[in-house]
Amino acid sequence: MPETNTATTALALGERTFVRHFRPEDAEEFTASARASRDLHRPWLFPPDQPDAYAAYADRLLRDRDRAGYLVCSRFDGRIAGFININNIVHGALRGGALGYGAFAHAAGQGLMSEGLRLVMAHAFGPLGLHRLEASIQPTNTGSIGLVRRAGFRLEGFSPDFLFIDGAWRDHERWAITSDMAGGITAATAG
Ligand SMILES: CC(C)(COP(=O)(O)OP(=O)(O)OC[C@H]1O[C@@H](n2cnc3c(N)ncnc32)[C@H](O)[C@@H]1OP(=O)(O)O)[C@@H](O)C(=O)NCCC(=O)NCCS
Repeated sequence: MPETNTATTALALGERTFVRHFRPEDAEEFTASARASRDLHRPWLFPPDQPDAYAAYADRLLRDRDRAGYLVCSRFDGRIAGFININNIVHGALRGGALGYGAFAHAAGQGLMSEGLRLVMAHAFGPLGLHRLEASIQPTNTGSIGLVRRAGFRLEGFSPDFLFIDGAWRDHERWAITSDMAGGITAATAG
């Protein structure tokens, strides 16, 4: 099967994946994949799984200056494998943001999100000009901890009752990486 045309949409390009912005026309594919991924996502994550909710979510990611949203897409068929968002972006002396992410079930467990995260890091530490990315993760979420550990994040600490998720305040491990730690991470394209 020929590779999909990524040239005009990719913010960063890897061997098997590329990352691009959310688009309004992704609503149907994104929400169908989110509905099919409930067992994988819960109780950690509750992405929009209906088109109305997706429209508001994608609109915020595109418009808010303190967020950046990335869809991780397969270079094989263009299908959305998952998403990685940078929330709470702060500039000034911090130049950091907080990650939120999820794989879609059909693409999970294949290394695609690991590659996608490297591409997002290249974009964040390159064109976005950030210095630090953090990920707050519940201690029993081994899949998420494995993802950031593989990407070179370090465990900085532990925050009791840190985030309100699934009806309660949850303890979180605090993982982070700086541009210096990521070294010369680059992507084939970045814009
Ligand atoms: C966290 C999450 C995004 C990770 O997605 P993923 O698809 O497992 O991540 P990867 O793309 O890195 O795949 C890793 C797996 O693929 C395997 N793999 C296969 N080929 C691989 C390759 N070429 N490179 C790397 N890993 C590869 C790894 O061994 C690993 O398997 P394991 O989990 O059994 O150890 C996913 O588990 C998820 O959506 N979880 C629910 C939502 C969530 O927790 N969000 C974060 C809240 S803090």
